[in-house]
Amino acid sequence: MLEKINDIIEEIRGLDAAGQAQVEELRIKYLSKKGLIPSLMGELRNVAADKKREMGQKLNELKTLATEKINELRDKTASTETTDVDIDLTRTATPLHFGTRHPLSLVKDEILNIFAGMGFTIAEGPEIEDDWHVFSSLNFPPDHPARDMQDTFFISREPSDVLIRTHTSSVQTRVMEKTQPPIRIVCPGRVYRNEAISARAHCFFHQVEGLYIDRNVSFADLKQVLLYFAQQMFGPETKIRLRPSYFPFTEPSAEMDISCNICGGEGCAFCKGTGWVEILGCGMVDPNVLKACGIDPEVYTGYAFGMGVERITNLKYRVKDLRLFSENDIRFLHEFDNARSR
Ligand code: PHE
Repeated sequence: MLEKINDIIEEIRGLDAAGQAQVEELRIKYLSKKGLIPSLMGELRNVAADKKREMGQKLNELKTLATEKINELRDKTASTETTDVDIDLTRTATPLHFGTRHPLSLVKDEILNIFAGMGFTIAEGPEIEDDWHVFSSLNFPPDHPARDMQDTFFISREPSDVLIRTHTSSVQTRVMEKTQPPIRIVCPGRVYRNEAISARAHCFFHQVEGLYIDRNVSFADLKQVLLYFAQQMFGPETKIRLRPSYFPFTEPSAEMDISCNICGGEGCAFCKGTGWVEILGCGMVDPNVLKACGIDPEVYTGYAFGMGVERITNLKYRVKDLRLFSENDIRFLHEFDNARSR
């Protein structure tokens, strides 16, 4: 019996367990009512009287050792235990970094949403265009400076001019060619101009242009739509001002200013003391443009407007350098974490 006890002592010293379930199995094997150690204790009564004391002590020693070992294993496995759902609770929590929406996308969506609320639908077109859609259909005279390499990126000049669009008015032409009025569209997209890159100019930027053609559309309609847009975008206190201007495709043409949203119209460095900042060009669609696109100017009239998304974004978020929009510096982009488009 002594030999058996010693064997078990050795066995217990070498025990290990990979999880709580194994620890429980060991407890049952050695210490439960029918386990090895209690049954050895039962055999104590068959031991010769003179050996009983020694044997009893040895058995107690064994029981203490087994109890201690099993408790030790239970503590050890508890701290590394994995559950059925396989969550590693010991893993360090690393914060996840989510991307953000680009400020130009946020502002573009906000502009489009305001016009969607007034019944405008979105129209898109190609960036690689031809002379007809970008210039000729829009009443640009043959010697207009925009037709010069200095201003426009040409891909090829022969046999016909292929270029990258300088404005999204080309999308308006494409829609007018295919659709009879009423037409009510907004055209978002990237446009290209041959400019030296600086804080205030870039060789590409983004526009949203709008077009509404129907019977009896007047300049008063244009003015009201633009006032509504300006107040939705920059707040209900915003005032607008229209200044006469010139575009080949509109007559009359105007440029629109809003009351400076930085000083509230008092005059500051941003608005150069005038209280006004320019945000878009607009006008009544020239009858020549309607004719070129197959729409009868005797029946229909319309207005058009166009704005730069970068310009609106600068006014909303006061970004001072245009180049930041295309550098994708993560620190700049994260400044817009909490900005949301409506
Ligand atoms: N196409 C003009 C531009 O790119 C903007 C504009 C659109 C002006 C419609 C008037 C009417 O500058």
